[in-house]
Amino acid sequence: MNRTKILSVVAILFATSLGVSYIHPFGNPHAVTQQPREALLQDAAMPDAAKRVLINKCADCHSQATHWPVYSHLAPMSWLVERDIVVGRQHLNLTHWKELPSDKQEVLSAEIVQQAKKRSMPLPQYLLLHWDARLSESDVAALSSLTAGGATDVGGTHTGDAAQGKSLFERRCTGCHALDSDREGPHLRGAFGRKAGSVPGFSYSPALKNSGVNWNEATLERWLQDSDAMVPNSAMGFSVPKAQNRADLIAFLKSVK
Ligand code: HEC
Ligand code: HEC
Repeated sequence: MNRTKILSVVAILFATSLGVSYIHPFGNPHAVTQQPREALLQDAAMPDAAKRVLINKCADCHSQATHWPVYSHLAPMSWLVERDIVVGRQHLNLTHWKELPSDKQEVLSAEIVQQAKKRSMPLPQYLLLHWDARLSESDVAALSSLTAGGATDVGGTHTGDAAQGKSLFERRCTGCHALDSDREGPHLRGAFGRKAGSVPGFSYSPALKNSGVNWNEATLERWLQDSDAMVPNSAMGFSVPKAQNRADLIAFLKSVK
């Protein structure tokens, strides 16, 4: 092939790529209003250090303040990038953080901390091109502050109400758990009275699996107060600050056999 031929092949490929990049097989992430990066999480109630990590390392896929590099406009690369952004925003869209109910914010915070600790975010394909987006130890610590709440009141006697517990369960736990199927967390029907870490096929942390704990009122109370303090290196990363809420949840778990 002579040079003109090569050049024209390259030109045709480039034009085709630009042309087909107007097709969006995974949905068009440009279709929503874009937000200026400076405005993202501006008045969200979370520590500044956590905000900074989310803005610098997660916002491209998890907000409407995406930065678009040149290659992200060329198919087929654009399709891969768009898929990550469309799906990423479905799971977590920081542009709408403030509008989320506090239950939802709590569950997403716990998921953020889990993903960060496992280093499973940002996605590997993103790190190939944004090597500086890899999470450092201090980034993980900053994100962990999102769930550092723990129990705010302990002790006293609280009689649980299973009906209240059911509605709390639906708002706070179903982000990760279902009664009858394993999701990010194991199914919870029958958890009361069960040995910890014993659902076959669910991939528990070794810490919980080998904890020897049996689930009853007392152990569930401690688990929901602060799972990491009760079983160090376990992987739930979620807590319920109020004693009455914990009692209601436990009454509900006890009622679902
Ligand atoms: C390249 C795009 C991209 C980047 C950057 C990215 N994510 Fe994600 N994220 C995704 C996609 C896509 C999903 C959906 C699940 C999947 O495909 O693995 C997701 C899912 C999630 C979820 C939900 C997990 C679940 O099980 O539902 C959380 C939480 C999350 N990401 C947090 C983060 C955090 C924190 C950062 C920054 C440290 C980050 N992500 C950076 C694309 C991204
Ligand atoms: C962010 C996701 C997430 C949320 C939200 C969450 N959990 Fe979990 N939960 C997990 C994971 C993951 C495990 C397994 C932990 C391990 O392997 O160390 C777990 C384990 C458990 C266990 C132990 C089950 C067993 O088989 O040993 C109980 C009980 C439990 N969760 C109750 C709850 C309740 C009640 C709520 C709501 C108040 C809740 N969880 C909210 C992720 C979550």
